[in-house]
Amino acid sequence: MTRVLYPGSFDPVHNGHVEMVETSARLFDEVVVAALINPSKGDGLFDLDERMGLLDDCFDHLPNVSTTSFGGLVVDLAREVGADFIIKGLRAVSDFESELQMAQMNSAISGVETLFIPTASRRSFLASRLIREVARLGGDVSTMVPDSVSRRMADRFTS
Ligand code: PNS
Repeated sequence: MTRVLYPGSFDPVHNGHVEMVETSARLFDEVVVAALINPSKGDGLFDLDERMGLLDDCFDHLPNVSTTSFGGLVVDLAREVGADFIIKGLRAVSDFESELQMAQMNSAISGVETLFIPTASRRSFLASRLIREVARLGGDVSTMVPDSVSRRMADRFTS
């Protein structure tokens, strides 16, 4: 049995993430999707509990997918949940440098290895930061995020 950990900021989860989880759920026996803090990203739109709630809504229909949130090191969570390895999505070459560095750091401090999965090219422009920015300024992101996320973002920006 192979259990993998898919960590990210997920602020918010978007359709590129959904595709990664659906692909991983076909490839591996169990997928744990975890919302974590990215210290380089500063204050986000949703807090960790809210992000996890949205992850729950999105992946409720996949029986071998579970969700969690964590405030510490991703490798500690990987050990805690018994993950065989971490998976990360690669949208473009621009993702590769920082993802490789994180994978090497995680391997160096714990021995936990990372596997990269390419995202579909038609979704490679999706990024939570841009989705937040477009939505905050009144643009339509409803085709880029799951319905529950779209509703929550609309609530957040109109309240
Ligand atoms: O979606 P993101 O922002 O690219 O995800 C990055 C994330 C949250 C996975 C990364 O920042 C992370 O692992 N944060 C937890 C703290 C940690 O383990 N830092 C060391 C990384 S080498």
